[in-house]
Amino acid sequence: MKTKIRTTLIAGSIALLTGFTNPALADPLELSVHADQPGDTISRYLYGQFAEHLGRGIYEGIWVGEDSEIPHTDGYRTDVISALKKLEIPVIRWPGGCFADEYNWRDGIGPRDQRPVRINTHWGWVEEENSFGTHEFMNLVELLGSEAYIAGNVGSATPREMAQWLEYMTADNNTELAGLRRANGREKPWKVPFFGVGNETWGCGGHRTPAYYTDLYKRYATFLKAPQDNRPKRVASGGSNENTDWTEALASGVHRDMDGISHHYYTLPTGNWPKKGNSTGFPAEEWISTLHNSMKVDSHLAVNEAVLDKHDPEGQIGIYLDDWGTWYDPEDGHEPGFLYQQSSIRDAVVAALNFNIFHRHTKRLHMANIAQTVNVLQAVILTEGDRIVLTPTYHAFEMYRPFMDATFIPVKFTAMPDYTLGEISVPMVSASAAKTAEGSLVLALVNLNPADSVDVVTALQGFSAANARGRTLTAEAMDSHNTFDDPGKVIPRSIEVKTDGAMLSVSLPAKSVTVIELEEED
Ligand code: AHR
Repeated sequence: MKTKIRTTLIAGSIALLTGFTNPALADPLELSVHADQPGDTISRYLYGQFAEHLGRGIYEGIWVGEDSEIPHTDGYRTDVISALKKLEIPVIRWPGGCFADEYNWRDGIGPRDQRPVRINTHWGWVEEENSFGTHEFMNLVELLGSEAYIAGNVGSATPREMAQWLEYMTADNNTELAGLRRANGREKPWKVPFFGVGNETWGCGGHRTPAYYTDLYKRYATFLKAPQDNRPKRVASGGSNENTDWTEALASGVHRDMDGISHHYYTLPTGNWPKKGNSTGFPAEEWISTLHNSMKVDSHLAVNEAVLDKHDPEGQIGIYLDDWGTWYDPEDGHEPGFLYQQSSIRDAVVAALNFNIFHRHTKRLHMANIAQTVNVLQAVILTEGDRIVLTPTYHAFEMYRPFMDATFIPVKFTAMPDYTLGEISVPMVSASAAKTAEGSLVLALVNLNPADSVDVVTALQGFSAANARGRTLTAEAMDSHNTFDDPGKVIPRSIEVKTDGAMLSVSLPAKSVTVIELEEED
């Protein structure tokens, strides 16, 4: 009965506000936003990046060196740095990935022309010149106003090597390693807030079992020491799907020195590694299967969180989703080992769907790092020579900035129809809301339907909106993307949002990501 009355009230307000015509649904979707029931803080670290020595991710993508003709500041591409600054990136994970477990940090310090050349055995068997090392990364982090998440080598290095790397970065006294850092140009220690103890230890990090790695973790973490005011949170390498063996072994076997367990999850359109699907030119079936597969992260997080709740009811140990994003088949004309791929409106929808899921898990999910920042997998920026293009994924990150460190606000649809194709169904719309420190309300709405717009009418509870500003990211085709010749094809544009204070209505274009900011009435 209550629902019926509310529906009638909402329908009355819609008629007053809009006069919608919905081509697919007879009535608008009804959403309620419960600003009167604030939840946890949405950690800004959910908007982290991951930059590995892989393909053109670091070299060419971020670092061109001081002799480059590409405009740069001390070797960093000026265009890329300026675009990244706008994202207010909270944290960057480096140097890998799989690369981390063969990296010797001593190769990347000292005069650049004396650094050894190695082979990047994981990614294309190319020469790694080591001109980008610890100083170049830590200075990048400072340049971007970001924080460092270092991935240490458990796969092929000793605990001593790992411990000495941390000492090199953080020592504030007169040790030999602090002196070496100073001699290499850095007087003050850097801040190292996060340190990963290995990467994918079930695979490229050494093919270990959960039990064996749990013991190894304890050994390596024991020696990771730093001055009291600069001790990193230590993150163990965990699992990659709904299997909870890694979380179980680590959470039950490690009783100190562990602040987080990493989890990795990649979205493949087909779910099949040998034939993953293409970044563009894909069939409608791969639009929906991609979104469907991506949303599986929700249940992966939930089952692993349940294990942590059992062993760590105080909630000290977080999940670090420090590799996530779409992974497609290699693009024609690009070295397959470089993992270069286009990013279309589908990727922006994937990103936004993930953000909405992450917000709901923010209590246990302490960090997420998209793979990867530039030119690799679901990149936010692509480069070619001296040109760059911001991908739709970049725009999704930019639009969601107000969610960083905002307070989670629960939302609820009265009913949610599915968008179905063949055997697969996904919810038509995904939503998330939060209240910012400045007191405004931010609402994100994602229309998963690639063909039809959908009208949404929202009842605001515990919040009276003075005005509403909305932007939407949408495109004509399911694979619309920005190119070096047409960089402005998929960019956010203003969208009309109507509000009478307690209600708001908006029409979401097909395949779109919309973020609305509402200021509270005085
Ligand atoms: O991001 C590419 C690779 O994916 C990373 O090196 C590894 O951690 C994961 O398998």
